[in-house]
Amino acid sequence: MARAPEPREQWSTKLGLILAMAGNAVGLGNFLRFPTQAAENGGGAFMIPYMVAMLIIAIPLMWTEWAIGRYGGARNHGTTPAIFKLLWEHPLAKYIGVLGLFIPFVVLCYYIYIESWTLGYAFFSLFGMLPHPDPSLPQDQYLKPFEEFLQDYTKPSVVAYIFFLVTVAFNGYILYRGIRGGIEKFAKIAMPTLFILALILMVRVILIETPNGTAVQGLNFLWYPDLSQLTNPKVWLAAAGQVFFTLSLGFGAIITYASYIKKDEDVVASGLSAASLNELAEVILGGSIAIPAAVAFFGVANAQAVAQSGAFNLAFVSLPAIFSNLTGGEIIGFIWFFLLFFAGATSSVAISVPIIAFLEDEFKLSRKVAVTATIVFMFLVSQVPIFMPKALDEMDFWAGTFLVVLFALLEVIIFFWIFGGERAWEEINRGGLFKVPKFYFYILKYVTPLSLFAILATWSVTKLPTILLTEDIEVWVARFIMVFILVLLLFMVFLADKRKNGENPSS
Ligand code: PHE
Repeated sequence: MARAPEPREQWSTKLGLILAMAGNAVGLGNFLRFPTQAAENGGGAFMIPYMVAMLIIAIPLMWTEWAIGRYGGARNHGTTPAIFKLLWEHPLAKYIGVLGLFIPFVVLCYYIYIESWTLGYAFFSLFGMLPHPDPSLPQDQYLKPFEEFLQDYTKPSVVAYIFFLVTVAFNGYILYRGIRGGIEKFAKIAMPTLFILALILMVRVILIETPNGTAVQGLNFLWYPDLSQLTNPKVWLAAAGQVFFTLSLGFGAIITYASYIKKDEDVVASGLSAASLNELAEVILGGSIAIPAAVAFFGVANAQAVAQSGAFNLAFVSLPAIFSNLTGGEIIGFIWFFLLFFAGATSSVAISVPIIAFLEDEFKLSRKVAVTATIVFMFLVSQVPIFMPKALDEMDFWAGTFLVVLFALLEVIIFFWIFGGERAWEEINRGGLFKVPKFYFYILKYVTPLSLFAILATWSVTKLPTILLTEDIEVWVARFIMVFILVLLLFMVFLADKRKNGENPSS
């Protein structure tokens, strides 16, 4: 006789759910990617396309993903192969849903490595192990030891590898403890801590004043609206890319988290609350730390160059250099990296959950076995981005940039056009603390998919040719491994489906 299936886990409280979802969204993107993107794309003017993208793409997709996830969870499925099949009775549906496993898994394999750098750097800051050059040196010479430190560390050094192992173990521990006992509990500690640490840093940074500049000038620099940038399509694409990344949309991670929501619990207000917490962390806190500190220390003229040198340089070179020159710099540096570590860890557990849920829901593996299998496989694949930086970039382009938009487009089409606009609308609003204004129905049905399509089309023309023409062995290794993962997942979806039909031939 078949054992009665164990009931799926659920979030224990609404606060826990919102904090876990906010933890999913608040990540390295808020503190590093957002300020560098804004500084490079029109400063204050960037906020106009950012807000537009938020209103017509991000918020509607947020509700879509929460609703799709809750719908699946109520039917014992937490990942898109099975959920798309519920929404669309077509043999293709489950294979399209494979993207909801492929994307988070591939991103996890490099995201967790970068996250481990933040833990390493937190440790180095605390114990005064970062360089201490003479602050009177010219800027490039002053930064040089920090650049070399980063290069040595990411080679990778043995120490970097040890911190990677510790980070993997830490993530594994949280995941072993499950949704309530692991992720929700961790979010309840990590999120308030993260906000407090960011506030402390923000206040400290605002007080920085050097002969080169002040943090207030930094805020003026970041928020000065260069309106001429608004006619530049690149700025609009950057804004759309940023809202996707920061809210974790199109990654499958929100859908799986949402599958642990109770059947009739609100998603409208909770989704908005989690998104608002993310925006608070991004625009207010993220905008007030890295760039203002860089301007205060290096002056407005040089800060532009710092922003253009990329988010990693800002985080691991410029900021430690700035902090090392302040009184109590060790502690300030530690706060900065530990904040990033918590932001990263609440996100990396979120992108681990889809594969785990897939193994639990579709193959009825126990949580422990599902977590072990996921961690071991992730560990193996992550050797590729660890030892090949160009492979990391290639994985980030496909899984972290291009496919998320494609997947989001497919989600909206399946939910609003195939499952049906009216039904989808009802599903979103069911149990809602308030109803979504009706004009969002039309946004979701027409504006969101058309905007997503426009983004994909533009990228296909502007970005794909250069990406596809890259001839580098590391890039090819990344492609090979990604195809391998994709084929493996497709095969597993096929098996899961066969298994289910065998159990219950009528379905
Ligand atoms: N939103 C995260 C950030 O801003 C990135 C992320 C995307 C994390 C998708 C999990 C899932 O860093």
